[in-house]
Amino acid sequence: MTQLGVVGGGTMGAGIAEIAIRAGDDVLVLERDQAAADAARARIEKSINRAVSKSKISADDAEQALARLTLTTSVSNFADRELVIEALPEIEALKVGFFAELDKITAPTAILATNTSSIPIIRIAKDVADPSRVVGVHFFNPVPVMPLVEIISSLASSPEAIETVTAYARDHLGKKTIQAGDRGGFVVNALLIPYLVDAIRMYESGYASKEDIDTGMVNGCGHPMGPLTLSDTVGLDVVLDVAESLYDEFRQPHYAPPPLLRRMVEAGYLGKKSGKGFYDYSS
Ligand code: 3HC
Repeated sequence: MTQLGVVGGGTMGAGIAEIAIRAGDDVLVLERDQAAADAARARIEKSINRAVSKSKISADDAEQALARLTLTTSVSNFADRELVIEALPEIEALKVGFFAELDKITAPTAILATNTSSIPIIRIAKDVADPSRVVGVHFFNPVPVMPLVEIISSLASSPEAIETVTAYARDHLGKKTIQAGDRGGFVVNALLIPYLVDAIRMYESGYASKEDIDTGMVNGCGHPMGPLTLSDTVGLDVVLDVAESLYDEFRQPHYAPPPLLRRMVEAGYLGKKSGKGFYDYSS
């Protein structure tokens, strides 16, 4: 059993907490206030109940897993965590500040991991006294379903920390792991995000309808969902954040987010999580 701390109980944090309690870990999830903590718990319970209804887990196991979950609004409760996975929004200053705080609270042997989609790990470790304990562990959405975890080593990460999180993700959580270098987007998002923003550009230009773009990639290439549906699933705010990080890192035009993506995020059309994106999910 690992004493795991998860910072943020949104889509990704809740998914990570769910698979960890199902694997037998004692999991503490940090949220900013009680309402957000209640929402995170509800998210995890809903997903576990779905697994029960699909007979992927027994009702007894689900109950025991949920008994291993604790929600907190105080970071000081992270003092006994052996591993912390941060899953906050992609705001660099927010992550840097949190890691500085975690550095003071946790034991020096604790590993501090970030689930960032695209921000270089060494920048997040900037204010941690010993950056060798900071690593990247990048999960994919939906976390209970997608087998992959990218393990990212910064220039300062220790081989021991990398080995520990690789074993945790692979042997304990049952995920497939790959190693990625500390460049914006790592392996998967560096390939995926240009494809998604290209699809948005194609739709924005009026060249093809959203349905035809999605149908084309599902039926022509065997993708499980088309790029506009996938953008709605990932969250348009996340697609925008990652595209901006990639553009910032490489300065290549094909990473630049198209205006339509910005306008949709500014309008609060974030995809499935907000009920509206390229498609309507309100019902
Ligand atoms: N939580 C748990 N299980 C889920 C789920 C969720 N949110 N969504 C779907 N599932 C399960 C279903 O229960 C079902 O299980 P079963 O086959 O055992 O019954 C299985 O997944 C298939 O689901 P559905 O039949 O409802 O629907 P689909 O066949 O369309 O599959 C999907 C859904 C698995 C999400 C599939 O469409 C898919 O693989 N899409 C691509 C997802 C993807 O590319 N993710 C990566 C995004 S990039 C990212 O996360 C990185 C970030 O940094 C940007």
